[in-house]
Amino acid sequence: MSTQSIIHLHGLFVFLSLALFSLRGYWMLRECPALQTRWVKIAPHIIDTMLLLTALWAAWLIFWSHGTNPAFITVKIIGLIVYIGLGLVALKLGKTKAIRLGAFIAALLVYAYLIAVGITMHVVPFAS
Ligand code: HEM
Repeated sequence: MSTQSIIHLHGLFVFLSLALFSLRGYWMLRECPALQTRWVKIAPHIIDTMLLLTALWAAWLIFWSHGTNPAFITVKIIGLIVYIGLGLVALKLGKTKAIRLGAFIAALLVYAYLIAVGITMHVVPFAS
């Protein structure tokens, strides 16, 4: 598989992960029982694993196999961990709805930042 295909596959899972997380966040706020269905509990694990595997694969092909690691890759790894933590608070651990809503919005903002970093390959996206 070509490097471009892997990057695009990574982009596809980035989109799928955001779509499903947004839907789950909406269901959480509406207290919708759909949130507890089996596929809704399983699918995010599969999608997020694929997101990470394609990310690691692309990073290996483009950077790590050549002995380089640009700052934006490190930022994305840390950002992904922060996003997962905020997602956990938003959908599981948050004690009140206000906490869950705050964590949900923060997770979406972190995710938007990571998309901008991915597209521009800069830690400070769109800075001239
Ligand atoms: C939630 C986390 C992440 C988001 C939202 C994200 C987002 C993106 C986006 C939108 C692209 C551009 C895709 C395209 O052009 O089709 C991209 C590219 C890329 N991402 Fe991610 N990413 C994430 C995590 C990671 C992680 C953890 C790594 C590294 C381990 C990584 C490595 C890469 C690489 C190497 C590219 C290709 C850059 C290039 O065009 O040369 N990403 N990412």
